[in-house]
Amino acid sequence: MTELFFPKTYSSLTSAQLIAKEKANMDTVRFEHCVRVSRTARKLAEQNQFDPDKAALAGFVHDYAKQMPEEAFRTAIVQEKMSSELLKWNRSIWHGTVGWFFVQRDLKINDAEILTAIRRHTTGDVEMTTLDKIVFLADYIEPGRDFEGVEQARQIGYADLNAGVGYELAHTLAFLIKKRAKVYPKTLAAYNVWAAQSSSSVKKEGKQ
Ligand SMILES: [Fe+2]
Repeated sequence: MTELFFPKTYSSLTSAQLIAKEKANMDTVRFEHCVRVSRTARKLAEQNQFDPDKAALAGFVHDYAKQMPEEAFRTAIVQEKMSSELLKWNRSIWHGTVGWFFVQRDLKINDAEILTAIRRHTTGDVEMTTLDKIVFLADYIEPGRDFEGVEQARQIGYADLNAGVGYELAHTLAFLIKKRAKVYPKTLAAYNVWAAQSSSSVKKEGKQ
């Protein structure tokens, strides 16, 4: 296993300081997930003409806030004057939509592209940059993931980043609906952009 090292941290912290802070903020299982997402993000970046070191860093820190107390999220939403709508959700949504704030505050990462990728990684969005897509998909297909359809997600995602994002959104939505879980509005909007087929192709399929 190659040692973790980020040549550029986009932060006043060194690579080693940043890794130590990340490690201290989560348990080993979560930390190892972050390492795998980092490696997967690097691979996806290499295939999609994106800076592999930057993608590896974004993937590594994407879940920095995942295990922080709920109260910390509520306080950040109020103090940082984020949308009060966020208060209706939970940590599974907050660790992305609010988690970027802790990455900026604690890890001192000040790069908008990285912070946005963290913000969007739990929900997707109607607008997604290449880095957003890489982190979103890497989180879903990293080698530790084991759910029905993950192999297909890997095949599709490594062949075509946009198609991978579409597959992930469609399957996430189907999963939430099956559980009768609440769907974050941006995820539904993202599905319409990245996953839904055009009405003409739906019609065509319907007739067959
Ligand atoms: Fe996450």
